[in-house]
Amino acid sequence: MFRVLDLDLRRALAARIRYYNEMGIYDFYRRPTDSPAAVGPESSPAVTEIQSESPPIPPELRDEMSPRKAAAIAVPVVVENNRFEMIATKPAQSVNDPVKALKIIREDLGECTRCPLHKQGRKQIVFGVGDPKAELMFVGEGPGADEDEQGEPFVGRAGQLLNNMIKAMGITREQVYIANIVKCRPPGNRTPEREECETCSPFLMRQIAAIKPKVIVALGATAAKTLLAMNSSMAQLRGRFYDFKPAGVSNNLRSNDPDWQGCNLAVTYHPAFLLRDPRQKGEAWKDLQMVMKELGMKSPGKPVV
Ligand code: URA
Repeated sequence: MFRVLDLDLRRALAARIRYYNEMGIYDFYRRPTDSPAAVGPESSPAVTEIQSESPPIPPELRDEMSPRKAAAIAVPVVVENNRFEMIATKPAQSVNDPVKALKIIREDLGECTRCPLHKQGRKQIVFGVGDPKAELMFVGEGPGADEDEQGEPFVGRAGQLLNNMIKAMGITREQVYIANIVKCRPPGNRTPEREECETCSPFLMRQIAAIKPKVIVALGATAAKTLLAMNSSMAQLRGRFYDFKPAGVSNNLRSNDPDWQGCNLAVTYHPAFLLRDPRQKGEAWKDLQMVMKELGMKSPGKPVV
């Protein structure tokens, strides 16, 4: 028998579901009836009548939401014989058009206050730039002063070098997609804290799932360690490809496109490191040549300049 949950509980569930939706999670599964976790105070029937449609969204939640978000949390929330069932619908546009998908992710990010970086002097969120259908994606660490000022990743000195690296591969900055692990400038260009990386990276994972690149190049140790969830040295991480699937993104979002089940990830030095130690440019060029081979790109044979 299906019954309506009381308003406070529905409100709490709506807030919880909205939190998961923002992280790109839209699928919720029912616990088996015999699961001990299915029986407990939460599932006790504080309920009154039969429910067959989505519960109304409380106005105070509705006001701060876009219609798409509101749609995403307009979920059937029912209790059947002391079991919860929550079925969140996926936003219709989120799946195959990368331009629309990126727009939705940016919208979900909003004027983010999820981690301490939002109150540590950031001027703006630096979301990402480039071709939403790029085969090649570069991921750096976090915006610096220039990026914070201009709202675009890699536009300062390190960005000039990255542009040259991309040019040396025989392509342009406009043909790739560039993003960072964290989207807000860490004060004084410090390395982002683990908590900041973990809070922000679900949005990057969703960007990756939307773009579906063939290869990701992680620029530097912070990007590599966060994406690969490995704590190895750059020497250990470079020189090979890793199978990469964006963590935490719903399997459905990935498998809706049967041609994309993940991609290769390579690690190279961060351009800011190469500016400090230009002798390593030859090594970085080796990494990029490995990437070019994987992508079937013809090497113009020029080194990183
Ligand atoms: N360094 C990064 O890691 N990212 C930028 O966008 C700029 C500098």
